[in-house]
Amino acid sequence: MAKILEKRKVRPDVYFFRLSTPEIAKKAKAGQFIILILHEHGERIPISLADINPEDGSVSIMFMTVGKTSTEMATFEVGDEIADVVGPLGNPSHVKNFGKVVLVGGGFGVAPLYPIAKALKAAGNEIVTVMGARNADLLLYEEEMAATSDKVLVTTDDGSKGIKGVVTLALEDELKAGVDLVLAVGAAIMMKFVAKTTEPYNVKTIVSLNPIMVDGTGMCGACRVSIGGETKFGCTDGPEFDGHLVDWDLLMSRQRMYLKEEKEAMERYSCNCVPIS
Ligand SMILES: Cc1cc2nc3c(=O)[nH]c(=O)nc-3n(C[C@H](O)[C@H](O)[C@H](O)COP(=O)(O)OP(=O)(O)OC[C@H]3O[C@@H](n4cnc5c(N)ncnc54)[C@H](O)[C@@H]3O)c2cc1C
Ligand code: FES
Repeated sequence: MAKILEKRKVRPDVYFFRLSTPEIAKKAKAGQFIILILHEHGERIPISLADINPEDGSVSIMFMTVGKTSTEMATFEVGDEIADVVGPLGNPSHVKNFGKVVLVGGGFGVAPLYPIAKALKAAGNEIVTVMGARNADLLLYEEEMAATSDKVLVTTDDGSKGIKGVVTLALEDELKAGVDLVLAVGAAIMMKFVAKTTEPYNVKTIVSLNPIMVDGTGMCGACRVSIGGETKFGCTDGPEFDGHLVDWDLLMSRQRMYLKEEKEAMERYSCNCVPIS
């Protein structure tokens, strides 16, 4: 059980929660995630850690309302309790002094980059953050990333802030100047193009994959991904993998496997035809 200590509506469709989870906060490291179950009829949803505070026994998450469970979670208020929180899950990010690291984030992907940026900065790396959105109003976590980065490059599709264009445009300029590691978190399509951009420069590129997950402990096989032709589990072998080895088409097709069921669940929830389940 985890009490909500803080709630912020960051954007009309994005929420920030700080949750009281002393045991998880004590053990969690950058790059890991938790699985939440809202109530006894709820489904399991994985969410990355957007901050870890062992001092006050809390972890933070940022989530987008994309379907039934995330929409329902957005109705929870400070003081409400989330029935089950399992974690920390997945392997932590590999942290050492690589040299110059470019972190690339799109959408809610910027939030999990924050603890990773803090850890890599503390290990002595030069951090350049590239964050992108469709327009300036949709940018997230700008202040937090500025506080942990040596340089922040913003890209917007419509040019309303920063560089007009997609994140790979800003990334390419950095690659020309020399980069030791790239780490990307966000939509699969964005990570795929980040990996394609870095490949000719032969720069190691880590991506944090988000396949459908159920148990999060390596038992169900729902999260299987193909890495360099080998089957791996996103939850126990990842979530971070070498972006140059990921079978992106398989990942994206598996992410769409339950679209019909997800749409039906959202419709039932929206019209209150059935109790939440
Ligand atoms: C390791 C990991 C970390 C994640 N971190 C975040 C995060 O920090 N913030 C955030 O907003 N989202 C995150 N996600 C995605 C999040 O789990 C889904 O948005 C959520 O499960 C959607 O549930 P829903 O019922 O609201 O939507 P649904 O209508 O059920 O699904 C909408 C879409 O979300 C994805 N999804 C649905 N169920 C799952 C599932 N069990 N596992 C993974 N993806 C699913 C699918 O692509 C689906 O098409 C993460 C996913 C993974 C695997
Ligand atoms: S979520 Fe079940 S094996 Fe990874």
